[in-house]
Amino acid sequence: MAINIQTAVDHWLRLLVCLVISMTIHASANLNNVNITILQSAVAKGAVCLDGSPPAYYHAKGFGEGANNWFLELQGGGWCNTEEKCLYRTTQSTGSSKYKEKNITFGQIDSQNQTENPDFYNWNRVYIGYCDCSSYLGNLESNTNITRRGARIFDAIIEDLLAKGMSNAENAILAGDSAGGLGAILHCDRFSQEVLPNAKRVKCLTDSGFFIHAKHLPGADKRAEYFANVTAYHGIHADSLPSSCTSRMNASLCLFPENIIGDMKTPLFLVESAFDEYQLTHNFFSNESTWTNCTSNLEVCTPSQLQTMKDYGIASRQTLQEISDTTSVGMFVHSCYRHGHFYEHAGWDQSTLLAGKTIAQAIGDWFYDRSFFQEIDYDNELPLFRNCSKFTSCSHETNLYA
Ligand SMILES: *[C@@H]1O[C@H](CO)[C@@H](O)[C@H](O)[C@H]1NC(C)=O
Ligand SMILES: *[C@@H]1O[C@H](CO)[C@@H](O)[C@H](O)[C@H]1NC(C)=O
Ligand SMILES: *[C@@H]1O[C@H](CO)[C@@H](O)[C@H](O)[C@H]1NC(C)=O
Ligand SMILES: *[C@@H]1O[C@H](CO)[C@@H](O)[C@H](O)[C@H]1NC(C)=O
Ligand SMILES: *[C@@H]1O[C@H](CO)[C@@H](O)[C@H](O)[C@H]1NC(C)=O
Ligand SMILES: *[C@@H]1O[C@H](CO)[C@@H](O)[C@H](O)[C@H]1NC(C)=O
Ligand SMILES: *[C@@H]1O[C@H](CO)[C@@H](O)[C@H](O)[C@H]1NC(C)=O
Ligand SMILES: *[C@@H]1O[C@H](CO)[C@@H](O)[C@H](O)[C@H]1NC(C)=O
Repeated sequence: MAINIQTAVDHWLRLLVCLVISMTIHASANLNNVNITILQSAVAKGAVCLDGSPPAYYHAKGFGEGANNWFLELQGGGWCNTEEKCLYRTTQSTGSSKYKEKNITFGQIDSQNQTENPDFYNWNRVYIGYCDCSSYLGNLESNTNITRRGARIFDAIIEDLLAKGMSNAENAILAGDSAGGLGAILHCDRFSQEVLPNAKRVKCLTDSGFFIHAKHLPGADKRAEYFANVTAYHGIHADSLPSSCTSRMNASLCLFPENIIGDMKTPLFLVESAFDEYQLTHNFFSNESTWTNCTSNLEVCTPSQLQTMKDYGIASRQTLQEISDTTSVGMFVHSCYRHGHFYEHAGWDQSTLLAGKTIAQAIGDWFYDRSFFQEIDYDNELPLFRNCSKFTSCSHETNLYA
């Protein structure tokens, strides 16, 4: 009973804090309020959202010493892989630009506030709207009522940004969140080698985009089948995936970052939770009918469900560890129960530290080669998650991952 009261109090406190945060953001919104750009010219190239509407992005211009630096962030929002689910997405902002906000507030790594975002505040910052539900990879030729053209959307927006000055980029980062973070990984080498071959420094950054296959954990076949369905439904071409992977295995398995990161040529940084909330909730790690109850309220988990979560935490860290052993990939892997950091106001501040650094410091140091950063919170004493601030996933409730 005491636990339930505590949970309720936490819930209300969290809502209250979110309200205060959002009011604060709106009060000082001017600097960071960015209007939408609808890319009408993309339609002629067949680069359209699921509903046929043009793609969209939000661009805050760089200034001062950042005028020729570009930070691109691919919005996420899961996938759809059936007619029914994708049809539903055409009525949502993740499937149509018609429902995208006319303006949004940039924060954290997108923020123009130097205190909050010392390394990138004056860069060109572009938030690319997700509306293809294929991690920017789909390219189905034949049109039905649902167009599947994520790869063309990516190309059309890149082309537009090049014309708007990105062709002179000195420093650039291709980043993304969740399904967009997966897109950033899969587009990364092409971005650095073909889009910006002459830039001084190009790197990629993924926020909660490391979706694991974890072959030895229950549900592995189902996870693979899910991505295979996404691949087939959206017409993701094998030749748009890294050949170092497709030459070794079925192309649909090359959507799992663990199968491609080891061969990437471009420096990559991962911001991840070892107990990723979205993956535990959605990606088939348990068959139990009470699983959803457990993942939405850990207090009601059975011992076997908690064991599944522990196994997941061990597997995700092991998978990341194996990658870190073979490449120079940077990583900030904490143990809070969380998914998404850049756009969810989560963990950007002092609430989440590894080796004494915040996520912002770790990324800045890594990008500018001030110091390498590769930390996995690997505490064997840790039973499950770390007890991180409860107030860190505000906008998660209203975000796109439903
Ligand atoms: C942002 O868009 C909303 C409507 O979508 C509008 O009411 C508001 O004035 C806009 N704010 C700015 C700063 O353009
Ligand atoms: C910039 O961020 C800092 C730290 O969050 C805050 O105290 C300050 O008010 C912000 N400045 C502006 C102009 O919003
Ligand atoms: C496409 O939409 C039209 C009009 O809403 C409908 O009649 C048709 O059955 C749809 N086709 C498919 C393949 O869903
Ligand atoms: C669910 O059950 C099936 C059949 O028993 C099994 O093959 C699969 O691995 C299970 N999935 C999970 C996530 O436990
Ligand atoms: C994959 O697609 C098949 C055929 O539509 C469907 O039966 C199956 O449930 C799908 N699997 C997953 C994991 O989405
Ligand atoms: C790749 O995997 C999918 C899904 O399991 C399967 O339908 C397809 O036939 C496989 N392709 C090859 C070339 O084995
Ligand atoms: C999940 O929790 C709700 C509310 O406590 C309960 O009514 C429901 O029966 C639970 N579901 C399962 C499958 O146990
Ligand atoms: C987590 O931390 C909060 C604040 O420090 C504390 O009130 C709470 O009891 C802790 N919860 C657990 C399960 O340790």
